[in-house]
Amino acid sequence: MNILVTGGAGYIGSHTVLALMERGHHVVVLDNFSNSSPKVMPRLEALAGNPIPLCQVDLRDGDTVFDVLVSHKIDAVIHFAALKAVGESCEQPLQYFDNNVSGTISLLLAMQKANVLRFVFSSSAMVYGDTEHETLSENTPRSANNPYGRTKLMIEEIIQDHCAADTNFKAAILRYFNPVGAHPSGMIGEDPRGTPNNLMPYLCQVASGKREKLSVFGNDYPTPDGTGLRDYLHVMDLARAHADALDYLQSQSKNLTVNLGTGSASSVLDMIHAFEQANKLKIPHEIIGRRPGDVTRLCADPGLAKELLSWESRHDLLQMCADAWRWQSKNPEGYNS
Ligand code: NAD
Ligand code: WQD
Repeated sequence: MNILVTGGAGYIGSHTVLALMERGHHVVVLDNFSNSSPKVMPRLEALAGNPIPLCQVDLRDGDTVFDVLVSHKIDAVIHFAALKAVGESCEQPLQYFDNNVSGTISLLLAMQKANVLRFVFSSSAMVYGDTEHETLSENTPRSANNPYGRTKLMIEEIIQDHCAADTNFKAAILRYFNPVGAHPSGMIGEDPRGTPNNLMPYLCQVASGKREKLSVFGNDYPTPDGTGLRDYLHVMDLARAHADALDYLQSQSKNLTVNLGTGSASSVLDMIHAFEQANKLKIPHEIIGRRPGDVTRLCADPGLAKELLSWESRHDLLQMCADAWRWQSKNPEGYNS
């Protein structure tokens, strides 16, 4: 199939481009490089062994998006393009609703006009908000508690209404838990701008000496070691799930919503210890107060993804840490190294 990957120059999108091409698909990348670098493209082409057409476009430019869909004879769209920082979304909610929600509506309208009927959407565990459920299944009540999470929740509703109105249009909503790691080559990976908000990229920068120490946000949670629990998922496993979801839409012609995680929760200290063991490094760290907005535990029940897609994670925490460090150590300044 001819697949348009929006946000394909980004962290998860770039890894998914490779997974799709390995499965024989032809991929076109659409990105405005608002949070990524064009320098990823030659690396992707080297890894894929084939050229990858690139369209530098903002999703909100619907006419150009339509032209891309038609000129490349796109059969399906995998939609990663979004702003994704929770804290930033609280400071700039209008920018997040415009970029993420209006951008998606613009894309869906262009797809409707071009008669492109297969769609895979990047959603997030953030749609579950402050939940105390041990593990989260797809029918756990959703209640986003920040603007970013609300953009994901709104887009899920928009997709469901569109599918109800046009039964020829089939969509897969994939709710990611905590993606980490990098392609085993160390040639592509997560390249955050400024100070990383997320644990793994910050941890990698401490390991490389770019940051002095890791601040652990609270050890007074009701968890075994007091630090927050998350369901960390290797980005290569996550990328594979997108190819599986596309196959499902083609073969079953049914809509799909699945949570994507390992089903096991790891604490911040677990991650630090795994990183130290996997890479034979010491990670200086200090326990400080909780980060506002953090929940105690976020862990997926991945049973439905296994049942419908025959998908499950294949990488453990040590492999996630080894692959993340290989990318960081080979590219200390990311794509500007
Ligand atoms: P990323 O920032 O690395 O990639 C997003 C890409 O989209 C970037 O290349 C950016 O330039 C592009 N983009 C943003 N707005 C655009 C627009 N209006 N037009 C065109 N391109 C645009 O982020 P990521 O970590 O790869 O996340 C990809 C998707 O997965 C996002 O939708 C995010 O919300 C979702 N997600 C990410 C995580 C995570 O922890 N990384 C977890 C759950 C869900
Ligand atoms: C993980 C754990 C922190 C940094 C975020 C986004 C969410 C989604 C996934 C897009 C928590 C602790 C972190 C640090 C720390 N992205 N931590 N020191 O918050 O689960 O989710 O990424 O959809 O929207 O919010 O991930 O990596 O920020 O935090 O102790 O310097 O690590 O308290 O327990 P989070 P995270």
